[in-house]
Amino acid sequence: MTLGFLGTGTIATAVVHALAPLGQPILVSERSARHSATLATTYPNVTVASNAGVTAAADVLFLGLMPDTARGLLPELSFRAGQRVISFIADLPLAEVQALIGPATAESLVLPFPAIAQTRSPLIAFPESGLVREIFVGHDVFAMSSEAEFRALLSAQAVLSPVVELLLTASDWAAANGADASKAQDFLRRLIASNLEASPLAPLLASLATEGGYNARLRAHMDSAGSFTALKNGLDAL
Ligand SMILES: NC(=O)c1ccc[n+]([C@@H]2O[C@H](COP(=O)([O-])OP(=O)(O)OC[C@H]3O[C@@H](n4cnc5c(N)ncnc54)[C@H](OP(=O)(O)O)[C@@H]3O)[C@@H](O)[C@H]2O)c1
Repeated sequence: MTLGFLGTGTIATAVVHALAPLGQPILVSERSARHSATLATTYPNVTVASNAGVTAAADVLFLGLMPDTARGLLPELSFRAGQRVISFIADLPLAEVQALIGPATAESLVLPFPAIAQTRSPLIAFPESGLVREIFVGHDVFAMSSEAEFRALLSAQAVLSPVVELLLTASDWAAANGADASKAQDFLRRLIASNLEASPLAPLLASLATEGGYNARLRAHMDSAGSFTALKNGLDAL
């Protein structure tokens, strides 16, 4: 199965790093020359081609484009029946992708994250697709039961950068109060990752609620400062 990528930007590049070691032939479009050339140099099974060349050769096409680029570019390309298209374009409904790539089939809207380049990183996919599971074997594919569920998790995942900023703020605070800066970051990253891996959220929170303890006092402070209400309002506003 030959895989083709239209757009070789941030997310497409990360996904190629995840998939190329599995050995399938992969074509990447010649845009983002720095990314595409590096991928072709790094992996013997990755080749750079024009958009038309990628489209002609691939059995499965991934769309790593911005929505307006896709609207302009895809109608110019010659897709064929039997080709399957997996779109990473979060803000382009799958029905619109289908209208742009017929007679190929819009298989699934998939949201990977940049960490997939280095590690197993969860993906969300709508609709459920055996092809997506086959391609992303070894990764956690969360199948969404509706486009609404996809959109809800698309918004909810945006909590990632506020969480990272919280950790950076805490490690900077620790560094300003006597800790080694990189030790503080390493410790906090491992602490948070290991606790999240070990337990579902509600029991974890309950286990961190010792009355008068550091965790309980900081959470109560942030709650009374409106932090969690601000988070909910921010999600509503996305
Ligand atoms: N970044 C993420 O974490 C992430 C996660 C999941 C989904 N997504 C989705 O993935 C899509 C791309 O996001 P991104 O962050 O990867 O953006 P990006 O880094 O800006 O990548 C966009 C790519 O499209 C290419 N492009 C522009 N015009 C083109 C054309 N006419 N023909 C072929 N390629 C063209 C760009 O090439 P040039 O550099 O040469 O212009 C670049 O390689 C978005 O729709 C986004 O919603 C992103």
